[in-house]
Amino acid sequence: MNTIMRDITSGPTPLLENKRILLIVAGGIAAVKVPDLIRRLRERGASVRCILTKGGENFVTPLTLASLSGEKCYQDLFSLTDEAEMGHIRLSREADIILVAPATADIMAKMTAGLADDLATTALLATDKPVMIAPSMNVMMWTHPATQANLQILQTRDVRIVGPGAGDLACGEVGDGRMAEVPEIIAALARFFAKAQNRGPLSGFKALVTSGPTHEPIDPVRYIANRSSGKQGHAIATALNEMGAAVTLVSGPTQEPDPDGVEIIHVETAAQMLKACQSALPADIAVCAAAVADWSVEEAAQKIKKGSNAPALKLASNPDILATLSKPGKTRPALVIGFAAETENLIENAKLKRAKKNADWIVANDVSARTGTFGGDSNTVHLITAEGVENWPTLKKRAVAERLAERIAKFVERHL
Ligand code: PMT
Repeated sequence: MNTIMRDITSGPTPLLENKRILLIVAGGIAAVKVPDLIRRLRERGASVRCILTKGGENFVTPLTLASLSGEKCYQDLFSLTDEAEMGHIRLSREADIILVAPATADIMAKMTAGLADDLATTALLATDKPVMIAPSMNVMMWTHPATQANLQILQTRDVRIVGPGAGDLACGEVGDGRMAEVPEIIAALARFFAKAQNRGPLSGFKALVTSGPTHEPIDPVRYIANRSSGKQGHAIATALNEMGAAVTLVSGPTQEPDPDGVEIIHVETAAQMLKACQSALPADIAVCAAAVADWSVEEAAQKIKKGSNAPALKLASNPDILATLSKPGKTRPALVIGFAAETENLIENAKLKRAKKNADWIVANDVSARTGTFGGDSNTVHLITAEGVENWPTLKKRAVAERLAERIAKFVERHL
């Protein structure tokens, strides 16, 4: 297997050029990633000014932050020198965004309560600018009802959240709570500015996304279905839209809310899904994340009566939407991406699907019951392209969608 790992956000990101970022570094082990974050933000043309909390000082020095940012590192709320040079109000206002990374459980709680007992929390309370946080903490702290309640309140106040991811934590435990990786934070900032400027890397491009299961009726009251929740497909539609694409989402029956800003066509069966997809063409990009039933049932006109023998269902093959969209021709989207849901030989089967369905890329995911991929919030995917296989870490479905959207944007930049 040819395995390639790439930094999906490398290269110039004009969306961050000349952006002023006030970076608040709180006291978590993930603060050790901050020097790299600053370096990469500056490479992309952003200016970074840091506030370091007392806790943060345990993990990274003010000198490191000042040297890398090329600016004074601010620490003290009552420093006369700082007040003379730059008060906390100016500090918080002379930024395009405030990024808290790492955001500890403590600083999240203080933000929720409106406490202002040091320079960082005072700047956060005094600001009229957007705020993004990259939480980082032990898994029990992250899942604690207090932290989750704080998170909800912060979200209702429009605080943007990036991460956290799942994995090994510094405390030795495993689970959610790892600060988002630097490229993910940069991608989240880029998306934020793209949306704010109404100009994402995909603006001017049209995307078609399928999501959710299909229901294939057996009779007027029964149907065949699968466990797809639509979480992955809907997240992809949202991420593409946030990057500026005009998105049509064709969705089977799900509990997921309709994403904002996306044209949505609700369907039930595979045949209806195909028709809706064809009506949404032409499109530049197609992403088929729906779990389309492979078979439909010869539908009985009336409810089948319960008799002594169980009835035999007569199945017929459904149209393959991905293969149909991928057929060479005038309406073929320039980039067609399918998924492969497998319970064995994941990569090999996914490669075969890519070839058989003429897709450009396949996102392969293991859907064995133990993975919780169907219906869960996280996914471990492998991106299969003509160049090889990229193994992505386990991510929230939202983060998978954002990464995929980044990759699509790179493709569009190079080829369209
Ligand atoms: O919805 P969630 O709960 O969030 O779960 C996400 C998911 C597991 C459904 C998603 O990540 C996923 O894997 N979607 C594809 C599911 C699937 O049907 O895979 P498949 O290997 O059977 O099909 C391969 C590809 O062909 C898929 O892109 C599928 O959309 C497409 N297909 C399949 C059959 C068919 N008749 N028409 C199609 O277009």
